[in-house]
Amino acid sequence: MSPSRIAPSSLRNKIMTADDAASLISDGSTVGMSGFTGSGYPKSVPLALAARMETAHKAGNPFRLKVWTGASTGPELDGALAKADGIEFRLPYNSDPIAREKINKGQMEYFDMHLSQVAPMAWQGFLGPLDTAVVEVSGIRADSTLIPSSSVGNNKTWLERASRIILEVNAWQSSELDGMHDIYYGTALPPNRVPIPLVRPDDRIGETGFRCDPDKIVAIVETDAPDRNAPFAKPDAVAGAIAGHLLEFFAQEVKMGRLPASLLPLQSGVGNIANAVLSGLLDGPFDNLTAYTEVIQDGMIDLLESGKMRMASATAFSLSPEAAARVNADMAKFRNKMILRPQEISNHPELIRRLGCLAMNGLIEADIYGNVNSTHVMGSRIQNGIGGSGDFARNAYVSVFMTPSTAKGGKISAIVPMASHVDHITQDVQVIVTEQGLADLRGLSPKQRAEVIIENCAHPDYRPMLADYYRRALKGSYGLQSPSLLNEALSWHQRFVETGSMLP
Ligand code: COA
Repeated sequence: MSPSRIAPSSLRNKIMTADDAASLISDGSTVGMSGFTGSGYPKSVPLALAARMETAHKAGNPFRLKVWTGASTGPELDGALAKADGIEFRLPYNSDPIAREKINKGQMEYFDMHLSQVAPMAWQGFLGPLDTAVVEVSGIRADSTLIPSSSVGNNKTWLERASRIILEVNAWQSSELDGMHDIYYGTALPPNRVPIPLVRPDDRIGETGFRCDPDKIVAIVETDAPDRNAPFAKPDAVAGAIAGHLLEFFAQEVKMGRLPASLLPLQSGVGNIANAVLSGLLDGPFDNLTAYTEVIQDGMIDLLESGKMRMASATAFSLSPEAAARVNADMAKFRNKMILRPQEISNHPELIRRLGCLAMNGLIEADIYGNVNSTHVMGSRIQNGIGGSGDFARNAYVSVFMTPSTAKGGKISAIVPMASHVDHITQDVQVIVTEQGLADLRGLSPKQRAEVIIENCAHPDYRPMLADYYRRALKGSYGLQSPSLLNEALSWHQRFVETGSMLP
């Protein structure tokens, strides 16, 4: 690696191996790691930690950490540490399959909190002290400010709050990233909070790098390793139909004068369906689009390249390996069209409300009254976590949730009598879309919602069952605001757990 990535000569004596850096972290400590949806996470110190943990476990001396991140990371971090049984507690969002298994077996404590709230809660002291920050950067400038890499996440906060800092300087990250980021230093705790001066998605309100106290840096590790995002599935007929319904809805809203022709800043959630909607926009009638979102996915890169999208603001890239290579090779061009910010800002309720974002997120299940479960399968098993979906859903101009109408080959209905877990209450859910159709729930009462959700969104295999349940619930006598049959409401879930299918 070229030494030019670490400009201050005074810091070069802190360069060491990942093993030596990992040995500075002790059992039981809290570590704030960089990383957000597979981008910008440290790639070598966590692996060295995992090796230490395995040795320690074999010797009968468990070595475990409390791990805070931006969101999901990569297999070298969550995967390796979870496999080594080295994570005692984890926040705020995980999608690693090994970590998921440990959580669901009760071997790892996990708090899937709103992503916008992590940094403020760390500052408020609600989460306890932070011992060490392990942060990937793409370079260190002569004045010791740090050039962020492919995600910003909570790094600003970790660098400020941690007692000690370990940096990974990754030469794989494009040196042209310098200048893309916007790190806002104006947040404060109540009663000293002031409005955040951002009124357009392309406003720059901060600095291009992280401030960093060089005296807190205890180790610098040089790496040259790629981010490890998974490829997206090619949009199939179901994803295409969902995208089609949603784009038709947006076109209708423009026609009614309720949305401008260039729409409003888009927020696009994680996953294949969200990416398919972005792909649909490529051939759609909308131009001059903007995004104020959490992650920049492949579909957004295509929109930026085609000129359909003017700019995108996020906290991280979430790109397939091919798209990451494409963006890295042309970073100077993309730098002018993209801004990466701390997740406290990319997901800030004040800004989402002010900008009027169009929120589009995935769901696990929705009930007939429009309550949405984004996180728990059969009410008990965590899939990923709430992520930024709550930040956006509650504060959006229009909050859309989308899903195939069934899961697991038709054995599960995504529309159920009662959600087995609720992340988004019905008031935060304005539109539900499946491949069957779209339910516009704005201004509807619970009973009106039930009728349109069953009719427009449910799969034909489950629609008569839902209609029958609802009809009988309407005959109840306890209350007819959101009628429920309590002894039956979760029986579909129970049937799935017992028989492997929600179908009788
Ligand atoms: N019951 C059981 N499993 C279900 C299910 C249901 N009702 N709905 C989806 N799943 C499973 C799928 O079978 C799939 O499992 P697999 O990986 O074992 O095949 C997995 O959940 C992902 O579902 P998929 O249909 O591929 O959709 P997706 O990639 O769009 O993800 C969520 C859907 C809900 C899991 C995802 O959007 C999520 O984690 N959301 C919460 C966080 C969020 O919204 N973040 C964005 C905020 S900016």
